[in-house]
Amino acid sequence: MNAVVVYSSKTGFTKKYADWIAAQLNIVSYDISEVNKRFLKKYDTIIFGGGVYAGKISDAKFLNKNISKLAQQHWLVFAVGLTPADDLANIEKLKAENFESEDLKRIDFFYFQGGIDTNKLSRTQKLGVLALRKMVGFKKEPSVEEKWINESLDNDADYSDKASIQALIDKV
Ligand SMILES: Cc1cc2nc3c(=O)[nH]c(=O)nc-3n(C[C@H](O)[C@H](O)[C@H](O)COP(=O)(O)O)c2cc1C
Repeated sequence: MNAVVVYSSKTGFTKKYADWIAAQLNIVSYDISEVNKRFLKKYDTIIFGGGVYAGKISDAKFLNKNISKLAQQHWLVFAVGLTPADDLANIEKLKAENFESEDLKRIDFFYFQGGIDTNKLSRTQKLGVLALRKMVGFKKEPSVEEKWINESLDNDADYSDKASIQALIDKV
């Protein structure tokens, strides 16, 4: 097998999953800043992971661009967010809002639960948290996802679960 893991992680949770997956498969994981299309072309299986911020998967643009260009490759994508992994409606929403339906047909998609590390958030991300909290606070009926995020943001939390990577490993 000729596979690689690429991740985009702002506070380390997606990197943690990327490293678990790479170790399990005995391959290498790379930060997205270290790779380009020419590099990826050498692999026949590309595993990409990104953290979820305001409903968007980090660096989904990079993915969207390369999925169509590297059409021969097998793409496995995992998103890491705070929303619980059994919230299937959230997972469908993530897929629909981050990928073209044609590209989705070519992707094996997975969702893993991450956590929150307030010390690692940038100033902009902290402002994002405040905006999110204000928005959810004002809404009469926040979604399950919004409620969950709002409550979790008060304390650091780590819901990452090594066992959950098995579903992805099985598809490689
Ligand atoms: C400003 C902000 C917005 C976020 N938006 C979402 C979201 O829309 N959905 C979600 O499930 N998690 C959301 N999260 C939680 C992150 O996805 C979570 O912290 C994840 O573990 C980050 O992964 P990373 O450390 O690899 O970047 C948000 C976190 C922050 C700070």
